[in-house]
Amino acid sequence: MCGIVGCMGCPNGTLETLMDGLGNLEYRGYDSAGVALGPVLETRKRAGELDELRKTVAEEPPTGDFGVGHTRWSTHGPPADRNAHPHTDESGRVAVVHNGIIENYQRIRDELEAEGVTFTSETDTEVVPHLIARELESGSDATNGDGGCSPADAFHAVVDRLEGSYALCVVVDGHEAIFAARQGSPLVMGVDERATYLASDVPAFIERTRDVVFLEDGQRVELRPDDWTVMDADRSPVEVSVETVEYTAEATGKSGYDHYMLKEINEQPDALRQCLSGRLDELDGTIEIEELSDLEEPTSVQIVACGTSYHAAVYAATLLRGAGVPAAAHLASEYATAPAPLGKGTLVIGVTQSGETADTLAALREARARGARTLAVTNQVNSTAARECDDVVYIRAGPEIGVAATKTFSSQLMATLLLTEDLVGLAEDLDPLIEALRDLPGAIQTVLDTTDAREVAAEIADSDAYFFIGRDRQFPVALEGALKCKEISYEHAEGFAAGELKHGPLALVTPATPVFAIVTGDGERARKTIGNIKEVEARDAPVVAVTDGRSEAERYADLVLEIPETHPLTAPVLTNVQLQLVSYHLANDLGRPIDKPRNLAKSVTVE
Ligand code: F6R
Repeated sequence: MCGIVGCMGCPNGTLETLMDGLGNLEYRGYDSAGVALGPVLETRKRAGELDELRKTVAEEPPTGDFGVGHTRWSTHGPPADRNAHPHTDESGRVAVVHNGIIENYQRIRDELEAEGVTFTSETDTEVVPHLIARELESGSDATNGDGGCSPADAFHAVVDRLEGSYALCVVVDGHEAIFAARQGSPLVMGVDERATYLASDVPAFIERTRDVVFLEDGQRVELRPDDWTVMDADRSPVEVSVETVEYTAEATGKSGYDHYMLKEINEQPDALRQCLSGRLDELDGTIEIEELSDLEEPTSVQIVACGTSYHAAVYAATLLRGAGVPAAAHLASEYATAPAPLGKGTLVIGVTQSGETADTLAALREARARGARTLAVTNQVNSTAARECDDVVYIRAGPEIGVAATKTFSSQLMATLLLTEDLVGLAEDLDPLIEALRDLPGAIQTVLDTTDAREVAAEIADSDAYFFIGRDRQFPVALEGALKCKEISYEHAEGFAAGELKHGPLALVTPATPVFAIVTGDGERARKTIGNIKEVEARDAPVVAVTDGRSEAERYADLVLEIPETHPLTAPVLTNVQLQLVSYHLANDLGRPIDKPRNLAKSVTVE
């Protein structure tokens, strides 16, 4: 999704700072990029990879003391130079970068075109520089004595007119300032003694400062060479706190791995340690999440989420139902417009790694508007979800740069397991679970050290499609295994509840469609899933069993991915790690751009 950077007073050079920032935001997903530097306004922009922009700025480097930059993820108009940001007005006096969607842009565009303004792009954003230019020429709030507005007045007057979601940064030719506004799209500010930075996300400037102001919706910022001001929509200054973020520049580097995804898969033992830290009491045999101490036991739970986070929500709902609480996982994009009825005491949980996913935020807002108490389960401290919900549980996975969620999914599974125990109680005797949780980081390490995923991926490559089946708590792993496979390898993959296979999907099963069967334990679920494996075998499809070896699954499988024995509630983390690795190797062998799959964005800030 679009990424914004801005800097004022950058000691290492404005262009370099902006280009580094855009590079650090590549993980969000984009298809074009651009920069604008001031005070003598110069813009450069190009469709395609950041390297295209790098070539352009190398040929003709723009100079300036401050500037803004942008990576665009297309919504209005295809990836093309003309649609890349910054957008400018007809005279090239105003440059704007924008993340979000301006919902009333068509009305404004019609109005401006009727006045004779010529547009050069199909974007919603382009209305903003034209509006600002018009205000500068003829604004009614004249404060600069020449019949028009000051740049600051023009900026604020235009932002007042915008509807929808935006993080906006504006530079006006000849004027030493960056104006910015946030409404419904993330925008953070980094500060140090010499420079100020703006960005969609902290990694953009993490190697320069860790001191951050998390801007709120409705807030605006004016950056000038010697100071900065945060203000509300009425332009009254707002006092903000500067927080020091914990992660370092190293945490966002690849640390020698070929891809962020592989690094993040390998970080799972540590991520889980952090997630569990201080939340298990082995002596007392209790699990407690401090943040939830004021929350009463809910009568029912609705969980809203998207994509991978939705799969964690399916797992969590299974646990809650197992603990006797009515619970369901909902796709946030559906819930936002077709919400489930709330009961007295219903808790609505939003599971979202970024805390900025527009669909999930919309679902949570809908639930709040109808009176529900809301809880965010998120990785991003101070994200919109964290701030808007009544309560928040952090999954503490650390920064995840690869577009495909990996370590954050594992941390979501375990954070929701802990919160289920804390809220409603999972079992009388927690000792076996606590022991399994304590051993889980080590068990993941064993999977990472001993996995045959690379060989399995090589063996099944070139298939027509890939299917994943699992039951109960392994059903969300089947869904997640398929999502990971399709998003990074571009191969067709589907996940099914094992028992559903025979109700339709079996028609797709052939010798050219490997089926990953997730079978853990030796109980009824395992026996039934083995029955499903036999159905697949009878159609000559290759079977890959992902198993702890406690059932007979291996006997019927062509290939096996083993996990160490663990508690039934922690087993999904381990089976999922094997499937993450298979998808990674499949995609790597196919030469896919693993960290930046086509058309996808890390943080999806539009509905
Ligand atoms: C897939 C993936 C996405 C996200 C989804 C929700 O690998 O990362 O499916 O899970 O866009 O994002 P968050 O969790 O940030 O709300």
